[in-house]
Amino acid sequence: MSDIILQVKDLVKYYYDVNKRLDVLNGLNLEVKTGEMLGVSGPSGSGKSTLLHLIGALDKPNSGEIIFNDKNINTFSENASAKWRNKKIGFIFQFYNLLPEFNVLENIFLPSLIYGENVSRKKLEEKAFALLELVHLEHKAKSKPTDLSGGEQQRVAIARALVNDPELILADEPTGSLDKENSDYILNLIMGLNENKKKTFIIVTHNESLAKKLSRWVHLVDGIIREEKIHAGN
Ligand SMILES: Nc1ncnc2c1ncn2[C@@H]1O[C@H](COP(=O)(O)OP(=O)(O)OP(=O)(O)O)[C@@H](O)[C@H]1O
Ligand SMILES: [Mg+2]
Repeated sequence: MSDIILQVKDLVKYYYDVNKRLDVLNGLNLEVKTGEMLGVSGPSGSGKSTLLHLIGALDKPNSGEIIFNDKNINTFSENASAKWRNKKIGFIFQFYNLLPEFNVLENIFLPSLIYGENVSRKKLEEKAFALLELVHLEHKAKSKPTDLSGGEQQRVAIARALVNDPELILADEPTGSLDKENSDYILNLIMGLNENKKKTFIIVTHNESLAKKLSRWVHLVDGIIREEKIHAGN
């Protein structure tokens, strides 16, 4: 396996807003190494979330390529794309997106049961419970997400993102709606996953203490990468 997990080449994405074309990504290029933690910053509306959606194949670019482990993901069919995403990519968003009618444990394994292939419910349940232990929430397994604090919900969302052992985790403002104490907790959890489990992360964040710990970060302006910083000591 190559040590480059992701290559983004000349990525272009625009939307139509009523009749006007809105150019969001204008030929963006990016390479991410396996095991790297890449931060993405940029002003509101600069296309950070759009970029993560395209990398996770939740949406398609107008042109350009996204190569993941030497495969062009834009050539996948809908079905292949859903399977690939479920297996390879973990998503952590700002607003957790937990299903209110299911308990915490179900929230972690049900999405995989729906889109996954050949994994028994029992196996997934066991995995989900082990992940709840990892985020120190095993005592909340039977609670409904709405009975949890924001920080706890985000920990559940992280556990859910890990259930299929993804190679790449895309995090969009993972500490955005949390107070300092909870942000620090999530931050340590993410750093630990990178260090101990060698997970590759792309993280959109405004959190300065997180940004400082990332090995590299890129700044998006006008739909391209304007600035690229590599921290000394990494
Ligand atoms: N589905 C869509 N249809 C039309 N316009 C969209 C769509 N999704 C995003 N946009 C527009 O594309 C631009 C980039 O949006 P995006 O969400 O990627 O920005 P962002 O950098 O994540 O901003 P923020 O920091 O506020 O989250 C914005 O102007 C947004 O309104
Ligand atoms: Mg965004």
